[in-house]
Amino acid sequence: MNARMLRIGMIGIGGMGHAHLETIRTFHHAGRCRFVAIADPTAVRFPDALAALDWESVAHYDDYRNLIARNDIDAVIISTPIHLHARQTIDSLTAGKHVYLEKPPCATTGEYEQLDAARRASGKICAIGFQMQAAPVYRFIKEIVASGKIGDLTHIWAAASWPRDDSYYARTSWSGRMTVGGAPVFDGPATNACAHAVHAAMVIAGAPVRVRGSLKRARPIESYDTAFVEAESETGINVRLFLTHASTKEYGPRMYFRGTCGHAWFDWNMNAAVTQDGGETVQYAFPYQPMMAIMTDFFDAIEQSGEPATSLCDTLPYLQTVNGALKSGDGITSFAASLVSAVTPNTPQQTYVVAGLDDEVAAFATDPSAVPSLVYPGKWVGVGEIDPAPVQLR
Ligand SMILES: NC(=O)c1ccc[n+]([C@@H]2O[C@H](COP(=O)([O-])OP(=O)(O)OC[C@H]3O[C@@H](n4cnc5c(N)ncnc54)[C@H](O)[C@@H]3O)[C@@H](O)[C@H]2O)c1
Repeated sequence: MNARMLRIGMIGIGGMGHAHLETIRTFHHAGRCRFVAIADPTAVRFPDALAALDWESVAHYDDYRNLIARNDIDAVIISTPIHLHARQTIDSLTAGKHVYLEKPPCATTGEYEQLDAARRASGKICAIGFQMQAAPVYRFIKEIVASGKIGDLTHIWAAASWPRDDSYYARTSWSGRMTVGGAPVFDGPATNACAHAVHAAMVIAGAPVRVRGSLKRARPIESYDTAFVEAESETGINVRLFLTHASTKEYGPRMYFRGTCGHAWFDWNMNAAVTQDGGETVQYAFPYQPMMAIMTDFFDAIEQSGEPATSLCDTLPYLQTVNGALKSGDGITSFAASLVSAVTPNTPQQTYVVAGLDDEVAAFATDPSAVPSLVYPGKWVGVGEIDPAPVQLR
């Protein structure tokens, strides 16, 4: 056995945890790490996974505090509901573990400050599961932007239409919630399913100076299913994102980067294109192995005492942007009932859709210079005005 082999524990093995389980088992069998333990109070729901882990002598705990109390674990992977992230991560860092925490790290900038204080005090790595950061397509776009090939970057736009039905909202008890047990969740397209796009935009744009947005619901939920978010960054870049689950047609996510002499785009199928003004468009396709890539990056960062591709610190602009959007619109509002209808009602495929939303997404994807009227944003909010605990206050 490699003397420096990392010893890994996993907290939360359902849902996204299944993907991490497979990656860690693969690394374990390849001699890249030793898989020591899991903690999940409802792991019995996954008998096949447990049977395989028993065979590999992986310990199982209901309570994550028993896992992090072990001194033969170097790092933990936390893939639990959003409202548990901050507590479990702070406890794990304080117990001396490196942490890979699923995205989003937390729901509020106030929780971010607590997480970052624990990270600094521990001296450990806290990577966040925004796996796009390790994807070759995203790294390529970052290089194109940095190279000046499309001039100085002026705009970043993203559009995503991901219809989500009852079965999606029924899959977890925290889906569509703003809080659970008093802890913020802030679930929705900009803060969960398509949070990768907001984060990817803000990593390139830099910290926002001011933000405006509109968070709306078609579905009768506590949180929102449609977001328009606009930010102006300290580097002068204008960011616009239009993300919805209340549509009928799938689109994207696709991100556009406009510079002073060209533009580029990439999408979640790992395709990209670059056009210099007056020149040909060159298309590119990249391999898709994001979970292997991001976990390899996490392991490398620990072993080489380096920075992970997805550090906690890089998530503050994302959190400021989504918390600012919530403040801008004075919370979340419902679409007019006359615009909302249920498609395939009374089935698990029931989807709440907003009349005209598909057309507005299509129009925005073609020409993002016009603000979509169905999600017209509220007032601009300066970054200093962003409430560190917006979710708890409402
Ligand atoms: N990176 C991605 O592309 C991606 C994709 C999907 C989900 N996610 C993120 O992964 C996280 C989990 O989402 P999900 O959809 O898998 O949620 P989920 O609710 O389906 O699964 C969470 C798992 O955590 C377990 N759990 C609950 N309480 C626990 C506790 N106290 N201790 C240990 N385990 C506990 C549950 O039993 C379950 O197995 C979220 O942050 C979500 O945003 C990321």
